[in-house]
Amino acid sequence: KTYKIAVLAGDGIGKEVMPEGLRVLQVAADRFGIKLELINFAWADCDYYARHGKMMPDDWKEQLQPMDAIFFGAVGWPDIVPDHVSLWGSLLKFRREFDQYINLRPAQIFKGVRSPLSGPPDIDMMIVRENTEGEYSSVGGTMYPGTEHEIVMQQSVFSRRGSDRVLKFAFELAKTRARKHVTVATKSNGISISMPWWDERAAAMAANYPEIEWNKQHIDILCARFVLKPQSFDVVVASNLFGDILSDLGPACAGTIGIAPSANLNPERKFPSLFEPVHGSAPDIYGKNIANPVAMIWSGAMMLDFLTGSSGAGRAAHDAILEAIRNVLATGPHTPDLGGTCSTTELGMAIAKQVAAA
Ligand code: NAI
Ligand code: MG
Repeated sequence: KTYKIAVLAGDGIGKEVMPEGLRVLQVAADRFGIKLELINFAWADCDYYARHGKMMPDDWKEQLQPMDAIFFGAVGWPDIVPDHVSLWGSLLKFRREFDQYINLRPAQIFKGVRSPLSGPPDIDMMIVRENTEGEYSSVGGTMYPGTEHEIVMQQSVFSRRGSDRVLKFAFELAKTRARKHVTVATKSNGISISMPWWDERAAAMAANYPEIEWNKQHIDILCARFVLKPQSFDVVVASNLFGDILSDLGPACAGTIGIAPSANLNPERKFPSLFEPVHGSAPDIYGKNIANPVAMIWSGAMMLDFLTGSSGAGRAAHDAILEAIRNVLATGPHTPDLGGTCSTTELGMAIAKQVAAA
């Protein structure tokens, strides 16, 4: 089988890390005998918006639907397009219309990457973020705009189907891991309707998994414990907003968000899944070729693993890429976010070289 991969580099450093992501992807695919067809799409970015007044062509869904996966850089260029317009006009459409309801974000500590925490701490966690509903709804509006009575409301939306499927994914994932532990993020003390209900759904799901140890923690103390006791976490499952916050915090505790990957999964494979770095387009460093490409490269490894159902060649390719990342982070070269001076390209080439020799 030849896997069709849609390539959308996006904006800013998305355009700089994508070539390195593709370089390593291709080397790994060749080395492990996986056939890929990489297809470039020149939209879902703010340059396209500047020319067409929208982020994507109207038939974007027909164009992407036949793909096996989407490899995505980052979107956003606030000088041209407000961030909520660029995000809701591209990435959030993919996540929702392709029902990519799992956003899986690993955070790990690596030798050679300095954590801001003392220790150095032992971090190896998987953050499972609900990706299609919750706090990121479009239900709401403004009343009495422009007056002193102005009121703005935005509704959170939690469905039983949406909550159960993300909780189930987290418990299933924990089964495959050594520590078999799940932490459920909540805020049922303050958010008194939806979050106690979410806690009940979590307890009901946990009852199906007697072999998994689990607990729930309020999001505020959970954030504090990410910093104070990150080694206590294995799988962490959270609503859309809480998961978004935790998945920047986790990698930051491990040293840099420049290495954090993510997989936006439609586990049923009815629609293509999407693989992208956690970070954004980083306008502050764009154009210098200094962005860390590891997040993009690691996202490619997750893509190969998912495409092949975590078996055979895909799993081997994933593990080889991770091993190469581990080695290069330990010895260098390092980009400036890691305290080094090398370029995006040099770091990508160093990883590609190790994968080729794996
Ligand atoms: P950001 O992730 O782009 O940047 C935050 C900070 O981290 C910056 O100082 C940046 O230089 C640094 N950084 C990020 N990635 C890095 C890398 N690979 N190597 C080294 N340093 C890196 O987040 P920010 O500044 O909040 O947003 C900038 C733009 O990106 C906005 O338009 C925002 O909407 C968009 N964005 C897009 C996302 C996506 O496409 N999934 C996710 C987050 C933000
Ligand atoms: Mg985020």
